[in-house]
Order: sequence, then structure tokens, then C-alpha cells
Amino acid sequence: MSSILQIKNLTKAFNDNTVLDKINLEVNKGDVIAIIGPSGTGKSTLLRCINLLEEPTGGSIIINDNEIKSLSPNSRPRLYDKEIAKLRKETGMVFQQYNLWPHMKVIDNLITAPILVKKETKKAATQKAEEMLNLVQMKEKMNAYPANLSGGQQQRVAIAKALVMEPSVMLFDEVTSALDPQLSREVLSVMIKLAKEGMTMIIVTHEMKFAEEVANRIIFMDSGKIIEDGPPHQIFHEPKEEKTKQFVQNL
Ligand SMILES: Nc1ncnc2c1ncn2[C@@H]1O[C@H](COP(=O)(O)OP(=O)(O)OP(=O)(O)O)[C@@H](O)[C@H]1O
Ligand SMILES: [Mg+2]
Repeated sequence: MSSILQIKNLTKAFNDNTVLDKINLEVNKGDVIAIIGPSGTGKSTLLRCINLLEEPTGGSIIINDNEIKSLSPNSRPRLYDKEIAKLRKETGMVFQQYNLWPHMKVIDNLITAPILVKKETKKAATQKAEEMLNLVQMKEKMNAYPANLSGGQQQRVAIAKALVMEPSVMLFDEVTSALDPQLSREVLSVMIKLAKEGMTMIIVTHEMKFAEEVANRIIFMDSGKIIEDGPPHQIFHEPKEEKTKQFVQNL
């Protein structure tokens, strides 16, 4: 198994509120990890730290052998440097909303970063973008503006927008929670397809059936800690930890 991402003793505090408490996690190539747990447990904060949208207060993140250590308090905030740029290229993130630039057509949303950040030619970027739009079944909307797409279509474009950067791991934070069930299914089925293609993914979700179907590992978090990490069957049907038991019983 080759490790893509290692999280070591990751801690995040907002003032004196410790939101992530010494998180340790190793993600292997092809892992599809669903993170579940009560509201306010630090799931989003963990994803945001992996991407340095939040600056960790302690510990480190190693992505493809590139180690990013947390900074001492007096050297924060981190300057926008090569370290961050490299990390962001390796991690594609999709949120609940606001993933697309509203003033740009779908195709321009997809080719801008590859051209600017990865220095791709317009032709190469367009070819890649069309390929990814095909994957999420949105190619026929390549000249549409985001406002003219349904929420589910926007999310599928957002996934394609992250994929064109060829990240080594995709991070999804509650990407379907603003969608009705039908639109949600369209997005989830794209994620299942990606998982089957071998994409390494970390998915924060409240959709437990989906988590059980898509993931090879479920992580149950509570109060800033990883309580249990195991295959779906274990977490949902034979949890080892008392806190996990209580959580799954109440689903
Ligand atoms: N920018 C911030 N400033 C201060 N506190 C924050 C900030 N972001 C998150 N928090 C706090 O960190 C804790 C964890 O929040 P987080 O959003 O990571 O939880 P979550 O597990 O994603 O919850 P949910 O399931 O509701 O999305 C919460 O107590 C929240 O209030
Ligand atoms: Mg959250």
C-alpha cells in the first residue's frame, strides 16, 4: 500500500477551543474514506486543514512525501508560498456550495486554473476539461453559465473543476446537503463512479447509506478526535467503541 497522505498529531484550536485534538490518519492510494460524526465535531475543520484553508495549530501533514509542518504562533499567518501551492494542487476540494465562478461559462471555470497554475496550453486544458465534463455527464452544458444549471449540475461541474487539476486526493465536504434527493443522487453516483475508478477520496457526509456503499473505510469522529476507523461493516454493524455504538444506534 502506498501512502498518499499522512496526518500526524494534527491539532487545531480557535482561541482556547480545541476543535481537532491530535488527529493521526494515514490515507493510502485508492482509499475512499467517509468521515461521519455529530455536528461541530471538527469534520469540516479537518478537511480545511488538509488543504490549509485553516492553519493547523500543531502537528503536520505529509502529502506525497512533501511535509507541511504547523507554524509557531508568531509566524502565522503563513505567507502564500510554494508549499501551499503544491499542497493545493494535490488536493481537490468540493464544498456544499460556492464552488464555481458565476461570471464564467462552465468550460472557462474548468480551464482557468490549469492554464494559470499548471501552465497548460488552452488546447490541452480544454481537452482535459471536456474529458472530465464527460465523466460527470455535463459536457452538453459546457457553454452554460452556473446560474443556469441546477444545484446538482453545478456540483457535478465543481467536481470536474477539481479533477482537471489532477489532484492525488479529492476532499468532499457535505456536497449534497443543499440538494433535493433526486439531484443528490446524480452527484453521489458521480462520486461512486470516481471511487470505482480508483480516485483517493475523503468524504464528509451525513448520508450514511451512501457512506456505507462508497467507502472502504469509515472514520467516526467525536469532539475533535477520531474515535473509530474501520471498514463500513464494522462501524455500522459491529462498532467496537461505545461512542460509535451510541451514534449508529441513533441514526
Ligand atoms: N473559523 C472559526 N472560528 C471559530 N470557531 C470555528 C471556526 N470554524 C469552526 N469553528 C468551530 O469548530 C468546531 C468544529 O466545526 P466544524 O465545522 O469542523 O464541525 P463539523 O463536524 O464539520 O460540523 P457539521 O457536521 O455541522 O458540519 C465548532 O465548534 C465550530 O464552532
Ligand atoms: Mg461541517
